[in-house]
Amino acid sequence: MRTMSNDLIIETQELTKSYGPHVALDKLSIQIQRGSTGLLGPNGAGKSTFFKTILGLIQATSGEGSVLGHDIRTEGLAIRSQIGYMPEYDALDDNMDAIHQVRYSGELLGMNPVVAMSRAHTAMEYVGLGELRYRPISSFSTGMKQATKLACSIIHDPQLIIADEPSNGLDAHARQAMLTTLSNMVNAGNRSVLMASHLMEDVEQVCSNIVLLHKGKLAAQGRIEDLKAIDREIEIHVWGMASELEIALGKEGLEVRREGRMMRIRHDGDKTTHRILKCAAETGAQIRRMHEYEASLEDLFLVIMERFGYGVKSSEDLLASPIEARKVDAPESMGGSGA
Ligand SMILES: Nc1ncnc2c1ncn2[C@@H]1O[C@H](COP(=O)(O)OP(=O)(O)OP(=O)(O)O)[C@@H](O)[C@H]1O
Ligand SMILES: [Mg+2]
Repeated sequence: MRTMSNDLIIETQELTKSYGPHVALDKLSIQIQRGSTGLLGPNGAGKSTFFKTILGLIQATSGEGSVLGHDIRTEGLAIRSQIGYMPEYDALDDNMDAIHQVRYSGELLGMNPVVAMSRAHTAMEYVGLGELRYRPISSFSTGMKQATKLACSIIHDPQLIIADEPSNGLDAHARQAMLTTLSNMVNAGNRSVLMASHLMEDVEQVCSNIVLLHKGKLAAQGRIEDLKAIDREIEIHVWGMASELEIALGKEGLEVRREGRMMRIRHDGDKTTHRILKCAAETGAQIRRMHEYEASLEDLFLVIMERFGYGVKSSEDLLASPIEARKVDAPESMGGSGA
């Protein structure tokens, strides 16, 4: 079990970033606590822009924010020296051996070469590249490169790791290795991880919290468990008096979806089960089966998007990363690439 803590490590108020006329981040007020958080959203949602803005790599257009207590507008350097940032683009030098690349990232943070080298060995071990550390990066697969980028970002043993699409382009095996390493950082290492992804499964595997962005706007944030409760239902199978029960449940203020003898009742607080049973007793309906029906993060995403007012058909449409989606969001002339 993860320990609950209320410390905010990242906080923004009405954070806005425009690229010319294009609003990439639209008044985002976000709170991120210690632990593991997934930043989810389709291509062009603003995930990478959010990271670059809170790291002080690009200037916010308006609004405020802090990371580990430092102002994102004025203390970018302090922020970047205390967190580990794994960017989405390939930031590696093909001509270097992996170990020297990782050491170099330590030196950039001001470590002396001896300390940086010793830390580089530890970091390479941690990401599972111990054996391969003396090989040139040019010989690496995408998975090895991603792992090397992660090693670079943890060279100074930061409390918070910010990873932009860490599993992007990886095969199943490398992807699993990456997700396991990130999970270990949170669970065994007691570090915080904030990772951007457009893959629901990746986020569910590593994170207990999510921030959901859509077209630069905040669609949802919170504990995955709590958000799932938005869409929790209780399923019952009824024998006799089904219509009477349906009416009684409605009068009780519960929302019912009925298909013959099967009904799904929207969860409405701790007493929901009790209220259902009371209605059944009053109407003489027999409940043969009763169980909780919990939405997947995927279902939840659809529900949120539906309420948010976008005609989304499936999360595939939204999250799969169609090239077209990006083109709609920003013309190429505006540099709509991001990834
Ligand atoms: N330097 C830039 N100049 C102009 N527009 C940009 C720039 N960088 C990003 N954008 C636009 O801002 C929006 C947000 O981009 P961003 O890269 O933050 O999205 P993202 O959620 O990281 O997407 P992806 O899943 O593709 O990585 C997009 O519409 C993008 O085209
Ligand atoms: Mg991105």
